[in-house]
Amino acid sequence: MTGISEGTAGTSRRAADAPWTVEPLTRDAVTRHLEALRRIDAAVIGVPWHAEQWQLDLPAKWELSRMVVANGIPLGFLVASSRDGAVHCHRIAVAADAYRQGLGTVLLRTVAALAVARGAEAFTVKVHRTNARSLAFLQHAGFTIARHDGDNFLLTALPDRVARRS
Ligand SMILES: CC(C)(COP(=O)(O)OP(=O)(O)OC[C@H]1O[C@@H](n2cnc3c(N)ncnc32)[C@H](O)[C@@H]1OP(=O)(O)O)[C@@H](O)C(=O)NCCC(=O)NCCS
Repeated sequence: MTGISEGTAGTSRRAADAPWTVEPLTRDAVTRHLEALRRIDAAVIGVPWHAEQWQLDLPAKWELSRMVVANGIPLGFLVASSRDGAVHCHRIAVAADAYRQGLGTVLLRTVAALAVARGAEAFTVKVHRTNARSLAFLQHAGFTIARHDGDNFLLTALPDRVARRS
């Protein structure tokens, strides 16, 4: 996959090959899709986010967060914000029946391109140390483990490297 940018679209094998698009995950989109987002979020290891956490304002969160939508329904999301000169991914998740179709990669690359455009020095994400699937996914996308933080690993990547990774 090359040239991921705003409005990137493709086809999912799920839902009769429904076409999907990457869309901004705005405050309004969170309100409209809260139940679907929370169902996807349930797969994340740890405590699921409650409605207030979804709506929480963070620096540049509403500019940096994205979702993949097919037939008007979210198939995945990436919630990010600006933190200490970096773009930090707070959560990324894809609906279980849409795993391994490249949607997580599209989300990462879209937000990495936004990070490049903002001049962010790094793209960071924290993952539970037992989350082998996510660690494999993030390392495949170009992230490396920077440090341990309790039960979590902090991973970091150069935004440009993630944005350009095929
Ligand atoms: C991690 C996650 C977002 C990946 O999404 P995805 O859309 O399935 O990922 P992709 O299809 O883009 O995978 C890209 C590559 O990552 C690697 N990868 C993805 N899932 C993997 C798995 N289960 N095992 C090993 N490698 C994996 C592979 O190299 C894959 O390429 P391939 O399918 O051509 O082999 C998804 O598994 C998920 O939602 N997990 C639960 C939520 C979570 O734990 N989030 C992280 C913490 S916030």
